[in-house]
Amino acid sequence: MSSIVLGVSAGIAVYKSCELLRLFTESGHDVRVVPTRDALRFVGEPTWAALSGNPVSTEVWESVHEVPHVRIGQSADLVVVAPATADVLARAANGLANDLLTNTLLTARCPVVFAPAMHTEMWEHPATRANVATLRERGAIVIEPAVGRLTGADTGPGRLPDPVEIFEVCRRVVSGRGLDLAGRHVVVSAGGTREAVDPVRFIGNRSSGLQGYALARTAVARGAEVTLVSANVGLPDPAGAKVVRVDSARRLREAVLSAAGHADAVVMAAAVADFRPVRQSESKIKKSSGEPEPIHLTKNPDVLAELGEIRRTAAFPRVLVGFAAETDDVLANGRAKLERKGCDLLVVNQVGENLAFGTPDNAAVVLSADGGSVEIPRGPKEDLADVVWDLVVARLS
Ligand code: CTP
Repeated sequence: MSSIVLGVSAGIAVYKSCELLRLFTESGHDVRVVPTRDALRFVGEPTWAALSGNPVSTEVWESVHEVPHVRIGQSADLVVVAPATADVLARAANGLANDLLTNTLLTARCPVVFAPAMHTEMWEHPATRANVATLRERGAIVIEPAVGRLTGADTGPGRLPDPVEIFEVCRRVVSGRGLDLAGRHVVVSAGGTREAVDPVRFIGNRSSGLQGYALARTAVARGAEVTLVSANVGLPDPAGAKVVRVDSARRLREAVLSAAGHADAVVMAAAVADFRPVRQSESKIKKSSGEPEPIHLTKNPDVLAELGEIRRTAAFPRVLVGFAAETDDVLANGRAKLERKGCDLLVVNQVGENLAFGTPDNAAVVLSADGGSVEIPRGPKEDLADVVWDLVVARLS
């Protein structure tokens, strides 16, 4: 159990921090919430006190005999400020100590994570950029905000990342495992491609994208620059990842190859269609047009095999990871596929009813080109993602 300080400053996204607080307490951490005065205009003191089970104060003048302005920061294992407004980033960067939260930030000797949320103009303002750079230089982790709908009609970077994403970064930091992918660029493909039959119909597959998105989220949490090539996934964009949306296998190939040219690792978690219709009707095929024509198929490019081929002569990507969905002879088929596609690691899952597709859990065996294998018991897709990144990190260093 760790002692966590959750600082909340006055942004409309404060309500999402209640969920973050729950994630901390439900995983056994002791959380002390330190809001700014104005944060309480959005969510009041009783909510924080009830959810955390701890007293809540904003000022250094309460319970002075306990010296809270020093003690709270000193005894914390992690301070996370979510949402962090432009104002709180500015005060932290300049070492101000005009409320309990900024006093806590000055006295904390533990890791500090900021999850900013503000309008795009504020996030992109040179003053905020400079404050973020200062905080990062001093060792604080400033999570990139998500891109999307802001208060009012605006959209752009500045949204508070999903509480699960902030939690993921904090979980990583608290466990002392560090940001071992910092400075690395990784490419993850996720979801399932669609091969058009006509403008309204396609041949697709059952991939939900959950595993690929978990890989992207955990890579961001471990400090990587992440390009996520996303094929038809209905999940929110992971904060801090560059998301490239594609539809068909050929579009996915273009996006992956263009990002892979300077990538440390490529993880092909997408279910790429092996075949596509030879002919795509320009207009909707009508029922009234008589007996249906058979759909003739042709082979799609195999992106993973192509990357394996490229690597024979090029330096990038340095580590190549494939996924294999198998229904029978899982390990033997997996081993043959790893060799055929020239990858370093192959994550083999057994697929079938209630296995792998669309579920939050996954179990797999990771085969490596040197003959090794790691069995990953059934668990959250984030855990599987972390094992994959552990193996990638070992190969990169
Ligand atoms: N893959 C790919 N391009 C394709 C098909 C698959 O890059 N056209 C990648 C997938 O992203 C995955 C791996 O190859 O990482 C294995 O996919 P899988 O569907 O299990 O293998 P197949 O190549 O389709 O082989 P088979 O049909 O024999 O199972």
